[in-house]
Amino acid sequence: MTTGELKKKYIEFFKNKGHAEISGSSLIPENDPTVLFTTAGMHPLVPYILGEPHPAGKRLVDVQKCIRTGDIDEVGDPSHLTFFEMLGNWSLGDYFKEEAIRLSYEFLTSSQWLGFDPETLSVTVFAGDDEVPADEEAASIWRSLGIPDERIYFLGRQDNWWGPAGQTGPCGPDTEMFIDTGIDACGPECKPGCSCGKYFEVWNDVFMQYNKTAEGSYPPLEQKTVDTGMGVERTCAMLQGKKNVYEIETFIPIIRAVEEVSGARYGAEGAEAGADRSIRIITDHIRSATFILGDGVKPSNLGQGYILRRLIRRAIRHARKLGIERDFLSAPAQACILAQRDAYPELEQNRATILEELAREEAKFLQTLQKGEHEFEKLLPNLLKNPKRIVPGRVAFRLYDTYGFPIELTQELAAEHEMSVDLEGFREAFQKHQELSRSGAEQAFKGGLADQSVQTRKLHTATHLMHQALRQVLGDHVQQKGSNITAERLRFDFSHPESMTEEQIRKVEEIVNEQIRRDLPVRFQTMSLQEARDRGAIALFGERYEEQVKVYFIGDFSSEVCGGPHVEHTGQLGRFRIVKEQSSSAGVRRIRAVVE
Ligand code: ALA
Repeated sequence: MTTGELKKKYIEFFKNKGHAEISGSSLIPENDPTVLFTTAGMHPLVPYILGEPHPAGKRLVDVQKCIRTGDIDEVGDPSHLTFFEMLGNWSLGDYFKEEAIRLSYEFLTSSQWLGFDPETLSVTVFAGDDEVPADEEAASIWRSLGIPDERIYFLGRQDNWWGPAGQTGPCGPDTEMFIDTGIDACGPECKPGCSCGKYFEVWNDVFMQYNKTAEGSYPPLEQKTVDTGMGVERTCAMLQGKKNVYEIETFIPIIRAVEEVSGARYGAEGAEAGADRSIRIITDHIRSATFILGDGVKPSNLGQGYILRRLIRRAIRHARKLGIERDFLSAPAQACILAQRDAYPELEQNRATILEELAREEAKFLQTLQKGEHEFEKLLPNLLKNPKRIVPGRVAFRLYDTYGFPIELTQELAAEHEMSVDLEGFREAFQKHQELSRSGAEQAFKGGLADQSVQTRKLHTATHLMHQALRQVLGDHVQQKGSNITAERLRFDFSHPESMTEEQIRKVEEIVNEQIRRDLPVRFQTMSLQEARDRGAIALFGERYEEQVKVYFIGDFSSEVCGGPHVEHTGQLGRFRIVKEQSSSAGVRRIRAVVE
């Protein structure tokens, strides 16, 4: 079964069970400062999980592309990926534990659907702790389906809990499903969660049933939600009888392209142990970079752009381990586009930009490497004077910080001269630096629910007002190109060919503040996309919308297709002020603004 066939079956199965198919979102979350990337299918659905009615109903199903960099060090093993596709079905206050588990079991084991042998299925459920009891209910549902106690594992928060760590809000236990690959790598103690390759996690059903309060208690949620995530690549690997994800059809062409330039053979008998791992890392990272570029991010030193840059540079470093010294990214990236463009047309549409940006970043990094090598050689005579033959941590850090020269390469160069690097000292210097400049990249390692605080709602409503005011002042060519809201400020990118004048900025502020003074009600209505357009609502050009959409109306002033949430009336906003107006990229301006 190919990934395309698996996705089709999943959607069909859940549609048969009364779920509405919704389309997946971009990898770049709109209006959610808590994460840099869409990390799970539930992520774009947070407002609905928190109780906003979804226009498509209470049972939903979709495929969502995801980026997770939290496990980046695991990439290269049989199952971890930084980019993956997630299948999900949701119940927003409709069915709960019993039906969710039964649906999962039927889809996994029925010969009409995936047909996995139930004997190969193991599950985990929440073991309970001081705060929340064990999920005996989930365990007994699994037992009633014929899963014996030996294959039901009770694990702790780390494995079987979903929700914002240390924060308040919806959360609950989950149950994960594993297929036994038959590998017997680490003996009888092995159990789900072990990374040896025996237990392959394919699906997770999350039961959001508690609403954690600021005092740390767990009262039940009014609207219980089921959120599930099935990994497309992992499940397909199991369906195709493979032992790791890299052997399915979406990866093979990328691996072939890497083999071609490197001369290395993936999985070759007696191959160097590290070579396969490097090929996997290169393959994973190029695929992630291609998708991130396809969603409009460019390499930079901040936020998403920084993660993108790291992925590209890490791929290049592993390529050097395989002996690739020249530029090579284009062929594997093209293989990736070709393998997935039917499901993700944005890859084809943005092919030229994707390849250009990869080439640019690659050239830049190759230059960095050259410069770093040159600097190292300059330092060499002094370094060699040290009888301990150790490169001090601060020197390694300077090479890293000033020239972007990766520590591993410093180690390699040192080794060529029979020296080692003081890694402890490097880490210390690195940490000190991090404390000083908390990089936006840190956010990428935190999952979590979107920020729904009053302050972000205010800024979200202010964004709609400003968008409309910009169109009035500058003209209808103003189109939203990006939006990002934190509790402190809004940031809004829009198409406009030149910088705004002082006067235009003042005018926009005035118009927005006028609407705040009028204390307009903020309401939404659900309607067809066509009706929304007919009624003049702003909808993002090129955005994939559902058939049924929510339109937010701010009095008679603005109407815009949007998931929400917003404040109830504009009088809540306070005073609106534009802090900065600057260029974002060619033909795109960026505004930062606050409400005070
Ligand atoms: N949100 C859950 C996950 O990503 C389903 O595992």
